[in-house]
Amino acid sequence: MQNHKLTKRQIENVKKAAALAACEMIEPDSVIGLGSGSTMMHLAEEIGRRNKNGHNISVVPTSYEMMLMAKMYNIPLLIINNVTSLPLAIDGADEIDPEGNAIKGKGGAQTCEKIVASLAEQYVLIADQTKLVDRLGKNMPVPVEVLPAAMGLVRRRLESFDCEVTIRLGTGKVGPVITDYGNMILDLRFAGIDDCMMLDRRLNDIPGVVGHGLFTGIVDKAIAGFIENGKTKTKILKFKPTK
Ligand code: 5RP
Repeated sequence: MQNHKLTKRQIENVKKAAALAACEMIEPDSVIGLGSGSTMMHLAEEIGRRNKNGHNISVVPTSYEMMLMAKMYNIPLLIINNVTSLPLAIDGADEIDPEGNAIKGKGGAQTCEKIVASLAEQYVLIADQTKLVDRLGKNMPVPVEVLPAAMGLVRRRLESFDCEVTIRLGTGKVGPVITDYGNMILDLRFAGIDDCMMLDRRLNDIPGVVGHGLFTGIVDKAIAGFIENGKTKTKILKFKPTK
């Protein structure tokens, strides 16, 4: 897989290719977890198209964004609290390392995405080739969703983590981003993450952290879209999750 720079249009094409390849894993008459982000929008569109042809696929959305997309494509929706397990959840990613650890949450939906991932027997990430990295955290921040009342405590704890900590600010509104669950986000910028599992646990241990975008040991597969010799292709990467 050549990792040369892709144009915006090429990136969109390879995202769509990954989404279409993932759609082949969805059984008719099944319920799947629907992650968030622009790559997932291609998947929602394709599910809508398949449902028009009688596939009867329902989804558990991971954000308002995907709930609205599902409604737009007339895809039946299930509420996360009413679901005890899912055969499959498909999601986007911001970075994926060779072991299948990932950073997610550029769109701020990391907490619900992780809940849905944890309900799924099979958790599959879809991404364009630029998301495949040797080491997590060199280019993308790790988002930490924080209960507003705990912002002071969490921020002070995170300042000892050898990273730059910033409050994620909104666009279209002044002040911080407020998540679908009414929380705020602190973005952690590292020079690179040495031990993802350890960082995952350390973040979980801070009181007031509602969730975070480091996903370790739960990804079964990633489908990466890429361009080779001018052709759009996909590749499936298989991992050994520890869940
Ligand atoms: C949202 C996410 C997205 O899945 C991730 O940011 C990838 O988004 P995109 O497909 O737009 O690149 O984690 O919380």
